[in-house]
Amino acid sequence: MLKGKNILIGITGGIAAYKICELIRIFKRQEANVRVICTENALNFVTKLTLQNLSQNDVGVGEFELDEFKPEHISYADEADIMIIAPATANTLSKIANGICDNLLTSVACAFRKQIIIAPAMNSGMWDNPFVQENIRKLKNAGNEILEPESGFLACGYEGKGRLCSLDKIFDITKQYLLLSRKLYGKKILITAGGTIEEIDSVRYISNYSSGKMGISIADEAYYQGADVTLVTTVDVQKPYNVVKVKSAIDMKNAVDKEFGTTDCIIMAAAVADYRAKNIAGYKMKKTDDDEITVSFIKNPDILKGLCERRSGETPLIVGFCAESEDLIKNAKEKIVKKGCDFLVANDISRKDIGFSNDYNEVIILDKNGREFHVKRASKAVIAKKILEKIYE
Ligand code: CTP
Repeated sequence: MLKGKNILIGITGGIAAYKICELIRIFKRQEANVRVICTENALNFVTKLTLQNLSQNDVGVGEFELDEFKPEHISYADEADIMIIAPATANTLSKIANGICDNLLTSVACAFRKQIIIAPAMNSGMWDNPFVQENIRKLKNAGNEILEPESGFLACGYEGKGRLCSLDKIFDITKQYLLLSRKLYGKKILITAGGTIEEIDSVRYISNYSSGKMGISIADEAYYQGADVTLVTTVDVQKPYNVVKVKSAIDMKNAVDKEFGTTDCIIMAAAVADYRAKNIAGYKMKKTDDDEITVSFIKNPDILKGLCERRSGETPLIVGFCAESEDLIKNAKEKIVKKGCDFLVANDISRKDIGFSNDYNEVIILDKNGREFHVKRASKAVIAKKILEKIYE
């Protein structure tokens, strides 16, 4: 997805520097060109050799290691499409906020004309320091994206706010800046993802193999296209958009119903269990002497159908999914009529090379007028793009 994009990562001297090795690998897996510059202090935590090997590029540290005509800091700033400073120590971010350029990293940041993403990490006392906070405000006001540190157990032994935010978050925001289009700007889109979990007793449940990857890819793509996204999911994810974590079909229905009146589009990619246990034991059920047990299940509400019945007119736009192991098109055609949605995305779950838990999918998009659009096997990120393209055509 990031082929041809030039990402410049600036590492400063904090313990979280070791995490950036993995961040470089994440960007490299997406085929981005990664260059790394670091402060002298950063090299106390990670080695130049490691960073060079992971980024497959020379690593810049000193400002005067010139072997070309162009001053080093200017060439780094010119080449990159985006700059990420992570971890950013209180020292470095304060210097950047005040225009101080006393090393390669701060000089590049000063000369940089495109987007800079800053992910601070430090002791919570330093983070709370009013001068540091004043500098954070300055950086924000100047258009830098600040990914605030998270709270938790810090390497220095303290508990509090100061831990580097997740690498997923840095990756998602970077991708958003690099790939952002404003195609869906102003649209509020709700997506459901993952298999619902229906409890039987306090330790047992029934569910299904849905990984949630398809729905999450759609949510990511909608976000990159500028939409205001809410993801209602049974899967634990950290995203830069609104995520509502749910468990059962009933929880999911409540979360979706809450947003119904204010959303432009609902995409039901979740694998919702059709039935739930009639009685959920609030304790761990004991084994009995019988060789068989019977658990009674009752029907869950059909969320998708309910949404379609509830709307008057064409808003919100409603998209269903359809997972079939046989007679895909026949069942999908019946299902779009039965549910009453505008589009139905059908996929064949009997195939091992696509679908449940796989990173790839192949789908047929049906519309309410009976038209079919075949989308050939591709990564779920690409399929997500095609789905959004089709429904917003
Ligand atoms: N769906 C829903 N609520 C349910 C069951 C399904 O909202 N209780 C939605 C799914 O999110 C999906 C669509 O309905 O968008 C179709 O789901 P699928 O499991 O393929 O169909 P079902 O209606 O459950 O029918 P069947 O299991 O018999 O194929």
